[in-house]
Amino acid sequence: MKVTLSVIKADIGGFVGHSDSHPQCLARAEKHLAEAKKKGMLIDYHITKCGDDLQLIMTHQKGINNKVIHEMAWDTFVSCTEVAKELKLYGAGQDLLCDAFSGNVKGMGPGVAEMEIDERPSEPIIIFMADKTSSGAWNLPLYKMFADPFNTIGLVIAENMHDGFSFEVHDVKESKGITFNTPEEIYDLLVFIGAPSRFAIKSVSTRKGEIAAVSSTQKLALLAGRYVGKDDPVCIVRAQGAFPAVGEILEPFTQPYLVEGWMRGSHNGPIMPVSVEDSTPTRFDGPPRVTALGFQLSNGMLIGPRDMFKDKSFDNARQKSLDMADMMRSHGPFEPHRLPLEEMEYTTMPQVSKKLAGRFKPLKD
Ligand code: F6R
Ligand code: MG
Ligand code: MG
Repeated sequence: MKVTLSVIKADIGGFVGHSDSHPQCLARAEKHLAEAKKKGMLIDYHITKCGDDLQLIMTHQKGINNKVIHEMAWDTFVSCTEVAKELKLYGAGQDLLCDAFSGNVKGMGPGVAEMEIDERPSEPIIIFMADKTSSGAWNLPLYKMFADPFNTIGLVIAENMHDGFSFEVHDVKESKGITFNTPEEIYDLLVFIGAPSRFAIKSVSTRKGEIAAVSSTQKLALLAGRYVGKDDPVCIVRAQGAFPAVGEILEPFTQPYLVEGWMRGSHNGPIMPVSVEDSTPTRFDGPPRVTALGFQLSNGMLIGPRDMFKDKSFDNARQKSLDMADMMRSHGPFEPHRLPLEEMEYTTMPQVSKKLAGRFKPLKD
């Protein structure tokens, strides 16, 4: 049976500040998606949040980039924004960058990850959701899951994984893409994905072309001198069989790594694996969070979720993240905690430079 899995998300208003979502907004989304399911538009759905981001997890049979599904998601966000406005939540409607829907939510603010699959006799999937970071944040864990035998022993000892995987990589600033085959091209692949602010993994497939993972990476729009559309990504990963085991998919998050985002989208900080309940970035608006919900698909029905990072085995990773957060915070406004100038979400550099222009003197040899 062909099933499309669509995860569409947006920050429609934060509670309090940018630290969490309000239950009334989630309840409004629930109402809309229940109606869509009743009408037969959706097979099933699950509403959740990651920090201040509202997440619509949906299954249907309309394929990816479907206008009806995208419009319904957009209308849901618009309706939830009304709730956010009534409650005067912070940044109500912040990710709805356009006034009217125009066929596809991509480029309109919300993030989208979708895949159409032939549901296997048993189809375990993991949906990762992150807050206070950008889409390149999936590069390191996706590489480890699908190309690093120190993480995924299946690449070495499982016959159905031994051929490796293909990585589709997007240059998000120049809007072009390339596919690398691993293991033979891992050095070439790493040249690019090691620079996650510009090159982001869009999808991973088996060498036979079966989709294994897809992220919400999309081309960035340069608006008013700054890139938009890069915030708080999601990623869908299929597990078991010809794909990595659930434990191999979660393992990269046991070693917290630095990502761009955190306070004012302008800092490097450790990504911390947490339960949905703990996706409340509060310290210096962070540190960045990642949640993982596991489902078994059953004829498109979402059996679950299991809150995968709630497990005790991620306690050490959380502690490590917190220690790394202390270390990074000790730099205050200095790089490498603060992002390099060209990567910061916003800066006063032009205004301050203008004000001080007359005081800059040419250097003598
Ligand atoms: C980062 C984020 C927050 C805000 C910060 C300032 O992605 O959402 O760190 O950037 O709280 O928010 P504003 O500018 O809305 O007052
Ligand atoms: Mg927000
Ligand atoms: Mg957010």
